Amino acid sequence: DWAMGDYIEEAIAHIRAQVGDEEVILGLSGGVDSSVAAALIHRAIGDQLTCVFVDHGLLRLNEGDMVMEMFAKNLGVKVIRVDAVDDFMGKLAGVTDPEAKRKIIGGEFIEVFDAESHKLTSAKWLAQGTIYPDVIESAGKGKKAAHTIKSHHNVGGLPENMKLKLLEPLRELFKDEVRKLGVALGLPHDMVYRHPFPGPGLGVRILGEVKKEYADLLRRADAIFIEELRNTVDEATGKNWYDLTSQAFAVFLPVKSVGVMGDGRTYEYVVALRAVQTLDFMTAHWAHLPYDLLGKVSNRIINEVRGINRVVYDVSGKPPATIEWE
Ligand code: XMP
Repeated sequence: DWAMGDYIEEAIAHIRAQVGDEEVILGLSGGVDSSVAAALIHRAIGDQLTCVFVDHGLLRLNEGDMVMEMFAKNLGVKVIRVDAVDDFMGKLAGVTDPEAKRKIIGGEFIEVFDAESHKLTSAKWLAQGTIYPDVIESAGKGKKAAHTIKSHHNVGGLPENMKLKLLEPLRELFKDEVRKLGVALGLPHDMVYRHPFPGPGLGVRILGEVKKEYADLLRRADAIFIEELRNTVDEATGKNWYDLTSQAFAVFLPVKSVGVMGDGRTYEYVVALRAVQTLDFMTAHWAHLPYDLLGKVSNRIINEVRGINRVVYDVSGKPPATIEWE
């Protein structure tokens, strides 16, 4: 049986025994796994842990501030925030192929993290939020599936020239256990129960070439969608639509279409909304969101995000479509 209090005590004792008085660095992504790993390790060894948070400009709205608030301010964790937005945007300029974009983002992430961690010369350990399903999947064929392609901050992502020992305290846990652990460690419920977010972030939700201007528009549209999902309760179940969906997000389409606004003609970009229900992310159904909810989200995005004048809803299942658009 899963006894959380005992588990935490044991995990803490184990981390202390492994690490002794040595220092640990951890790449914080804003995702659930690295966040829970950070909270657990901090509970065990306090200031011997330093987290590095790389802002690549492809995060959700206010995500960087939220991570700093949660860890640095509320939990007292040492976090170094690296602003690498210009580096990432520079490397991505002119690149349109989805897999090429993934490689660039993953490679650049390792480079930035590596450079930052080399400054922490006293660190002997690299901590990662690897969870049990990551261990199994990376032992398999390496095919693209839920949570697999996280090479830049998960299994196998250790840069070769970094002579650091690996600390992976979540290696034996399933996702639901990691979430319960996170709540028990004092992380906010909403953070711990967030939908999965891909490592390449908005990079795979901006079709084709990534530009900062596109990312800024997409972030705002996405935040409106998520806010309305959280605020809309389904009467039949009493649950909100964020919790009733497995993953939901906005996608930026770099095509322009004609619209009218007031007396004027507009010619602006399109945003697609995607919301799916799935158990394993290998297959998925598109979510039958209420029309009222879709209408409200569309109105808000078009009224509040200048630069977008059309919103469409993705009604494709997986297969044949994937969950992400790239
Ligand atoms: P697809 O689009 O393949 O997505 O149906 C299935 C699940 O995997 C996530 N995903 C990724 N996660 N790096 C990640 O860390 C990636 O490159 C990546 N691609 C897709 C996707 O968000 C969904 O949950």
